[in-house]
Amino acid sequence: MLRRVKSLVAKQRLNSISELIPLLAHDEDFRTQSLNHLMVNVSSLFRDPNVFAKLKQEVFPYLTSFARLSIWVAGCAEGLEAYSLAILLEEEGLLDRTQIYATDINSEVLKQAASGVLVDSLNADDALRYNESLGKSSLSDYFVTAYGKQKLKQELLAKISFEHHDLTQQAPFLNAQLVLCRNVLIYFDKTLKNKVVNTLWDSLDETGYLVIGTKESIEYLDIDYDYTVTDEKTRIYKKSDLK
Ligand SMILES: C[S@@+](CC[C@H](N)C(=O)[O-])C[C@H]1O[C@@H](n2cnc3c(N)ncnc32)[C@H](O)[C@@H]1O
Repeated sequence: MLRRVKSLVAKQRLNSISELIPLLAHDEDFRTQSLNHLMVNVSSLFRDPNVFAKLKQEVFPYLTSFARLSIWVAGCAEGLEAYSLAILLEEEGLLDRTQIYATDINSEVLKQAASGVLVDSLNADDALRYNESLGKSSLSDYFVTAYGKQKLKQELLAKISFEHHDLTQQAPFLNAQLVLCRNVLIYFDKTLKNKVVNTLWDSLDETGYLVIGTKESIEYLDIDYDYTVTDEKTRIYKKSDLK
């Protein structure tokens, strides 16, 4: 965080961190820009492929029992996680019945995400992670190239709704069968984690699944629901009856 703040000071050509204070207090545009600068938006297609493979094996069979599916990708950054999910759902014949809500607090990354255009071209590592996620086809089949950039095919992009949402302040999206919130909790302290994780559980239907980052955990938090651990390594949890 200190590194990010210092880089913000340098970017603004200020002399010290304290010089940020009046700007943050009085200039709303500056506040938004600064927030966007402070956020870490690192992501990749099929990040932690073992998680996607596990989702396909353990969670997709559950999803097939629903006529309509809502999936929430919270803290979606530039959308790569939502694109990955859409591709795998399409391969299992589930995408037609699915609405994916992909949300983030950073409006800049959301614009990029909603465009469907990849910032970095597909490479061999993306293809490898797609295969390890048990992808069935060739990753490039899901993208079209225009003006030297690759863009997610429109029929997949149309199934994802990108919306601004602050996990720490706003109500949950309701009745989801699956919620992914990976590599976001890591930035919050315990109080905020408690609040956010309960928001995520609230958003799930009675027996839905929650996926967090592989380096995150919820075991020590105060959670208002009972749940079971579907897979410890990939941090996939399943909600059970109300406490
Ligand atoms: C490291 S990225 C994770 C992206 C993706 N989930 C993944 O695992 O690859 C963290 C994202 O969380 C978002 N974020 C941070 N605080 C948030 C909040 N309070 N509400 C919603 N999103 C938030 C950031 O803007 C950033 O895009």
